[in-house]
Parts: sequence; C-alpha cells; structure tokens
Amino acid sequence: MNQMSPSPPIALIPETAPFSAEQRSWLNGFLAGLVSLDGAGVTPLSAEQGAAVMQQAAGDGDDGEAPWHDQTMPMAERMKLAEGRPLRRRMMAAMAQQDCGQCGYNCHDYSEVIADRKEARLNLCVPGGKDTMRMLKTLYDELDKVPAAPIAKPDAAVPDAASAPVAAASPVAAGRSRDNPVLAAFVSRRLLNKAGSEKETWHIEFDLGAAGLDYVVGDSFGVFARNDLGLVDQIIAMLGASHMTEVNGKTLRDVLQNDVSLSPAPDSLFELLSFISGGPTREKARALAQGGDPDGDAANLDVLATLQKFPGIRPHPEAFVEALEPLQPRLYSISSSHNATPGRLSLTVDTVRYVIGKRKRLGLASTFLAERINPGDPLPVYVQKAHGFGLPQDPNTPIIMIGPGTGIAPFRAFLHDRKATSAPGRNWLFFGHQRSDCDFFYADELNAMKASGLLTRLSLAWSRDGAEKFYVQDRMREVGRELWSWLADGAHVYVCGDAKRMAKDVERALIDITAQFGARSIDEAVAFVSELKKKGRYQQDVY
Ligand SMILES: Cc1cc2nc3c(=O)[nH]c(=O)nc-3n(C[C@H](O)[C@H](O)[C@H](O)COP(=O)(O)OP(=O)(O)OC[C@H]3O[C@@H](n4cnc5c(N)ncnc54)[C@H](O)[C@@H]3O)c2cc1C
Ligand SMILES: NC(=O)c1ccc[n+]([C@@H]2O[C@H](COP(=O)([O-])OP(=O)(O)OC[C@H]3O[C@@H](n4cnc5c(N)ncnc54)[C@H](OP(=O)(O)O)[C@@H]3O)[C@@H](O)[C@H]2O)c1
Repeated sequence: MNQMSPSPPIALIPETAPFSAEQRSWLNGFLAGLVSLDGAGVTPLSAEQGAAVMQQAAGDGDDGEAPWHDQTMPMAERMKLAEGRPLRRRMMAAMAQQDCGQCGYNCHDYSEVIADRKEARLNLCVPGGKDTMRMLKTLYDELDKVPAAPIAKPDAAVPDAASAPVAAASPVAAGRSRDNPVLAAFVSRRLLNKAGSEKETWHIEFDLGAAGLDYVVGDSFGVFARNDLGLVDQIIAMLGASHMTEVNGKTLRDVLQNDVSLSPAPDSLFELLSFISGGPTREKARALAQGGDPDGDAANLDVLATLQKFPGIRPHPEAFVEALEPLQPRLYSISSSHNATPGRLSLTVDTVRYVIGKRKRLGLASTFLAERINPGDPLPVYVQKAHGFGLPQDPNTPIIMIGPGTGIAPFRAFLHDRKATSAPGRNWLFFGHQRSDCDFFYADELNAMKASGLLTRLSLAWSRDGAEKFYVQDRMREVGRELWSWLADGAHVYVCGDAKRMAKDVERALIDITAQFGARSIDEAVAFVSELKKKGRYQQDVY
C-alpha cells in the first residue's frame, strides 16, 4: 500500500507577525484545521471564524467580570454589556441573573456547562422564560462556528442543540437534584391569610420519612407538580383526540398531565402549526415561532390559547406532544428546620391565579399544592442545596432578616433552627405584607418567639393599612441607627422574596443607612455593602 508521508507543518502565519514562536505554532495548527488544503486552494475563513481566531489569539476577551449580573436589568442591556466577550459569558448574560438554582446550577455554572457541551438543555432558566431560551439557542448555534479542538471543517453540518448529547448526569444522591427526585408524602395545607385578604398563601407540610431526606435551613425544595385535569381535557377536546389516544406508550391524558408544560406556548408549537397550515395563518404562526407578535397577544398564549387562536388546525397528538416543552419542577424556600422537626418539611406558598380575557389561568405548582394534592399523596421532590444562603457558622453572630410576603419562609426556618440548636446570637426580623389584620403570617409563632426572647426584634410594615404604601425598607430607614449598630457588631443581613423590585429597594435602603449612620459618602456606602456581599454577610434568596 502506498503510505503517505507526513505533511510538513503549514506556515500560514508569517514569521514577521507579532507572535511568539509558541503562539505562531499554535495558530498555524489552528488555522490549518480551519482551511481546506485539498489541492483546490485555500478556502478563506468566514467572518465568524476570523473573529474567533483573532479572539483566541488575543486571549478570549474575558476579564472575569459580570457587569450584567443584575436581575432587574433588561435582556437587551445585559447582552449589550456582554458584547465582545466569549460565548460562554454572553450565554450567562442571557440568563435571568437570579442565581435561583431552578436550572440546577447558578447562572455562571449553567452557562459554562452549556458552552462546554456538557448540558444540552437550553430551556432550564425558568425566570428567563422564552427570551432566555431563544437567546441561548442563537448563541448555541454560534458555538458551532467557534472551533474547538478537534476543529470541525467550516462546512460541517451544525448539530441541532436539541439533538446534542446530554452529558452523563453526575452521580448525585437520590433526592438531591432535579435529575434524581425521590417521593415524599404530602401531609397538609393551612391557609395563612385571614378573611378579607387579597392573597392566598399556604403553609404546606411534607413527610420526608420514607424519602430519607434531610436538609439545612436556607435550602430550597423542588417539587414536580401535575397539570390541572380541567385544562388537560380542554386541550384534548381542542385536538379532537381521545383521552386514551396512545402517545409514547402512555395515554395522551397522562402525558399532558404529567410530562409537558402547558404554559407558555413554546416556539416549536408555533413552528408545528406553521408546517401544517397555509396562507396568512402559516405566516402568523411562523412570525410567532420567530419571536414576533403579529396580533399583540403573544404574551398571553399558553398552549390552550394557541390552539384557540388557530382554530381548525389540528396537529396529530404525537407531533403536538413532541412540540411541547417538558414540565419543569418549581423551587420553594424551605420554611422549617430539620433540627427542630426531623423528617418534616414545610413550605410557604403564594397561590398564583390570574385572568386573561375570560379565562382563569392557574400557576402550575402553587395551585397544585393549594388544591390538587391530597394528604398522603406521594410527590417527586428534591432538596436544592443553597449556595451562599444560610445561617452564619458562628451561632453567636447576630442576624438581620428581611422577608416580606413569602420571603418570610427561610427566616421562619432560621428562627426554628436557632431555637433548636440554642444558638445565642441575636435575631431581628423585618416582615411586611398588605394588611396587618389578615396577612400577618405565623403571627402567633412570631409573637411567642418575641416573648421568649428568641426574636430580639420584630419590625413590621403593612403596605395597605394606611393611605400611603409602607414597605419593609421604610421601616428599616426608621430604625436605621439601631440597624447600623447591629451591622457594626458584625450582623449578617439576609433578604428573601421578590427579586424584581423589593430586593433592589432594600439594598438601596441599606446603602442609605450605612451612609447616614456609618458616616460615609454614598460611594463608600455602596462599596461597604458590596464588601458585605463578598464576605457573605449580605445574602439573598430572591425569585
Ligand atoms: C429559590 C426560589 C425560592 C422560591 N421560594 C418561594 C416561596 O417560598 N414561596 C413561593 O410562593 N414562591 C417561591 N418561589 C417561586 C416559585 O418557585 C414559583 O415560581 C411560583 O410558585 C409560581 O409557580 P407556579 O408553577 O405556581 O406558576 P407558573 O405556572 O410558573 O406561573 C407563573 C407565571 O405566570 C405568569 N403570571 C403570574 N401572574 C400573572 C399575572 N397577574 N398576569 C399575567 N401573567 C402572570 C408569569 O409569567 C409567571 O412567571 C421561589 C422560587 C425560587 C427560584
Ligand atoms: N417567579 C415567579 O413565578 C413568581 C411567582 C410568585 C411570586 N413571585 C414573586 O414573588 C413575590 C412574592 O410574592 P408574595 O406573595 O410573597 O408577596 P408580594 O407580592 O411580594 O408582597 C409582599 C409585600 O411586599 C410589598 N411590596 C411590593 N413592592 C415592594 C417593594 N418594591 N419593596 C418592598 N415591598 C414591596 C407588597 O406590597 P403591595 O403589594 O401592597 O405593593 C406586600 O406588602 C411576588 O411579588 C412576585 O414578584 C414570582
């Protein structure tokens, strides 16, 4: 056989180019992999490949900073701040920046595993929703144009994100990850609001005995809820199918109840509808699939509303199910302490219900816990370990907890834990909600903790009791001097609840208090609070 002799090294980078010998040799190898030297000449690099080469040659353009890491910043602004950075950093900027753990990672780690092709699911960022998913898909496609070793040929087919392999799941213990849930028994629910409230918030209890799970305060609990059967049946009727139609070896009803998300409608459903329709309907479905909003109602389109919007177009149940997103678990801050009540776990869940047009819409997991699960029923669950949200190691350290609404959940857990472990540190809770007479969650318990001295201070803020709104941060400002003295004594500060407005406003109040009572300029106060964060003395669990 005619053995080919090894090719001499190809010198595409001139000797005079401003690179060290080592850099030149690496770049020559790199470029040789990108171009086709097949006798027909050199195929020029595409603009993206050129840019990738330049970026690699100049370092990858990452200074390690993440200026977009702010959950209140709109996506367009975040992407602008990430411009010119490596793809993995732009992927991070596409996420909701809440580090909420719903995807099973934090924003930084989720982007890294996607960019390393160890995670092919681009739909895990629940708070980022469709915008994040769309942006991640675009960036993922770009990933295929940035060569990694071994380098793909320029014209190689771009693999579809959906068909890319999912990295073998790391061997996580049962019940410790969304990928490996265990069954826990639902025990009970108790309404925390009294008559006259505009809210519906439940204290929910689970028995972890059979699951053998434990947790530490600050952790969250992941639950896999089931869709409402009323909604499922309306969808089956719209499809003109039968409950018993078989899909993936199960009944259609079972699949729609347990396996797929029915809200919001994914781009792939619009795509499917565009494939099986024609004319203006097809154009409309196609526009929606591409993120357009031809009729100004895109935000309202869950799966049922989509079928209603396109009457007469009836996909085959199998194709329909394939076009839907898998049902995602929901996370809840644990509001109990394993040290106080081993084997038991509680949550504090606000029920999401709203009306669009004439139709009542139900939050999946919150209404499931509020009305569709019965005592004794088993439910797939897992404990999501908190990263950077937990009691101080030293039990003597004073803590200041700020948790309006359901934000009280982890702080009830902290207080029960400090009681169970006889931790001597002082505890100060800021709680607020709409009305004192009907929205004071755990009032008896908290008052008893105050009377016993466990709760050193309890500061309350009722937003709808008076003519003017009054929030937890307003109460913080009123007691700013004492708050500053706790901080000066080394207190840790915790914030839990609404990510979009409350968390930012509370931080602003703390900065102002630091400036006023800590005798600092605003810039110095900002630096002080950011230093607290770096030292783990300012921790947030926001959603
Ligand atoms: C770490 C973490 C801890 C959490 N802890 C708690 C907790 O302790 N207690 C708690 O109650 N929640 C908590 N949450 C939020 C919880 O995970 C769920 O997001 C929440 O219960 C809603 O889920 P759902 O399935 O009921 O609603 P979904 O089916 O997810 O529906 C919610 C969506 O409905 C839409 N929507 C809601 N209201 C309206 C409206 N008025 N008009 C139009 N659209 C609307 C929004 O798009 C919203 O995202 C936490 C979240 C995280 C990430
Ligand atoms: N990601 C999700 O899917 C999801 C689901 C459910 C809830 N949430 C978020 O979680 C939050 C928690 O809901 P919740 O039932 O616990 O109560 P909430 O709606 O946050 O209300 C709790 C208290 O906070 C007050 N508040 C409103 N804006 C504030 C601000 N800027 N600063 C400080 N306090 C403020 C409210 O007052 P007023 O209402 O009187 O103004 C109320 O008194 C919701 O606001 C929502 O943003 C997210």
